[in-house]
Amino acid sequence: MPLTTTRELFAKALKGKYAIGAFNVNNMELLQAIVEACEEEKAPVILQISKGARQYANPVYLKKLIEAAVSLTNIPIAVHLDHGDSFELCKDAIDEGFTSVMIDASYEPFDKNVEICRRVVEYAHKHNCVVEGELGHLVGAQFDEGEAGGGHSKSGHYTDPEEAVKFVKLSGVDSLAVAIGNSHGAYKFKGAQRLDLERLKAIKQALMDAGLGDYPLVLHGASSVPRDIVEEINKFGGKLGTDTSGVPEADIEIARRLGCCKVNIDTDLRLAFTAGIRKVFAENPKEFDPRKYLGPARAKVKELVRHKVRNVLCCAGHAFD
Ligand code: G3H
Ligand code: 13P
Ligand code: ZN
Repeated sequence: MPLTTTRELFAKALKGKYAIGAFNVNNMELLQAIVEACEEEKAPVILQISKGARQYANPVYLKKLIEAAVSLTNIPIAVHLDHGDSFELCKDAIDEGFTSVMIDASYEPFDKNVEICRRVVEYAHKHNCVVEGELGHLVGAQFDEGEAGGGHSKSGHYTDPEEAVKFVKLSGVDSLAVAIGNSHGAYKFKGAQRLDLERLKAIKQALMDAGLGDYPLVLHGASSVPRDIVEEINKFGGKLGTDTSGVPEADIEIARRLGCCKVNIDTDLRLAFTAGIRKVFAENPKEFDPRKYLGPARAKVKELVRHKVRNVLCCAGHAFD
């Protein structure tokens, strides 16, 4: 089955009020875990590739691995460039056949962000590719305070509803990544801090009122940093901080009902993979066959993806809508 256009996945997800998981792919084991879980759960999926993933694995390896996955399954699969930071990188991904690209110029002033997005949109739309832009600043990776993170979200970084309307109209982007307190990585929130779901509702409403319809919103930094997995990592020799947390699954459920039809998850996959590897090494320090530690790590990621698509994103069972 060929790749599925991201546009088609969004339309179905918005109608069904579920979200598509956009899972980051960096190597074969992660890809297999994601696709196998989604296939067994009959879930559509977005495989997303960052600039770092391309540097790590080489774009050609990633392309061929994804081709293999696509040929071995019949679930809808879209391929997305995660956090493209230049027109040139987006163009490369579009030329390679990605079904969507993110141009992340959110670090630029509003007008410059619009201008950069507009340029990518013009090229992408000629090639049947969907474009995601971002307005507002995520805390965390973009304002990284590492383990000390959390509690440092400044309202000035959040997406403003009226600016979102202006941004979408001027840039022509097909979907919008919003900043509502979400953040990348394993150290997001401290204490009772959560997503600003009222703001999300206001953004959605403003887009609707402006005639942009049921406009697709994207939630980055949506890992929940499961406490049990962090504890497992630490039990087997890791030293991850335990006084911060990720996005509560209950918030993601509300976000998807409010129109976040693409939910980005990377950190949770990394945590699951690390826990799987650490367990093998801790229990059998003599092990040196990569298959014996990458295999269990892959199984752990698969279990996590299954949980996400079934219980959090609720896209399980929607592959053939
Ligand atoms: O949001 C960023 C993703 O988690 C990708 O991370 O740039 O380290 O591949 P990366
Ligand atoms: P997490 O770090 O929360 O997994 O977010 C991933 C992401 O937003 C990729 O773009
Ligand atoms: Zn992101």
